Amino acid sequence: MTCATPPVSGQPVLKLLNVESSYGPIRAIRGVSLQVRSGEIATVLGSNGAGKSTILKTISGILDPRKGSIGFKGRDITARDPAYIVQQGLSHVPEGREVFPLLSVRNNLLMGAYTRKDRDGVARDMEGVYGYFPILRERALQDAGLLSGGQQQMLAISRALMASPDLILLDEPSLGLSPKLTREIFEIVVRINRERGTTILLVEQNANMALNASDYGYVLENGRIVMEDTCARLREKDDIKEFYLGMKETGVRGERRWKKKKTWR
Ligand SMILES: Nc1ncnc2c1ncn2[C@@H]1O[C@H](COP(=O)(O)OP(=O)(O)OP(=O)(O)O)[C@@H](O)[C@H]1O
Ligand SMILES: [Mg+2]
Repeated sequence: MTCATPPVSGQPVLKLLNVESSYGPIRAIRGVSLQVRSGEIATVLGSNGAGKSTILKTISGILDPRKGSIGFKGRDITARDPAYIVQQGLSHVPEGREVFPLLSVRNNLLMGAYTRKDRDGVARDMEGVYGYFPILRERALQDAGLLSGGQQQMLAISRALMASPDLILLDEPSLGLSPKLTREIFEIVVRINRERGTTILLVEQNANMALNASDYGYVLENGRIVMEDTCARLREKDDIKEFYLGMKETGVRGERRWKKKKTWR
């Protein structure tokens, strides 16, 4: 799995401008401006509590922003109803998967397609997701609550695909998964992007996986975007290597790197 080159040059499908969101008195994100271009995988990196999930919840309409605007495919979707936003072609895979545990795997998938009228298309997409994740076909009639964590993540991604979206918001697909399963899931995410042309906005703490899979990246700290660049360039930045990729280098004078201050503030 490698970073896509040359850089993606599609038109922006998602644009956030100066978005601010709060939970009561707690301001979680502020001044967030970002864009995702058609056909790319974009990522937002950040540690616990940085505001990654808040960005996705604000885009998908679960949380109304206090300030700013969100545009999707040229249409303003700021603070619109989540069902309307799904209908526009934007699906959200929330943190912690959230499958319907008492419904079968197959019915979970059909829930993802509930707004669609094209039965043939739904059947075709069902075959498509079984192609990506064959285990879901094997478990199609079993309750989703009986799947393992990794299988539930596969189901959550597949359910989003069943809406036939143009853009998928993916919240920490690596959460709680083994490195091997994380790699497998990321490989499929990249395949979905390449084969179906689905644009993806991925938020992750696992910077290594996210930077390898994505084209363009934003770094979020304390609710603010502090850096953005192509993932190829982000991977080469000392601050990213040190603070997100966990690589330690001894400086020329053997300086103690942990004392070094980040330079982006
Ligand atoms: N429902 C809520 N009520 C109050 N505060 C919240 C709520 N959800 C999140 N927060 C706060 O908002 C800030 C951003 O949280 P958010 O969940 O967006 O972070 P995150 O980057 O997704 O973190 P993680 O990697 O742990 O999932 C944190 O300070 C968090 O405590
Ligand atoms: Mg989160």
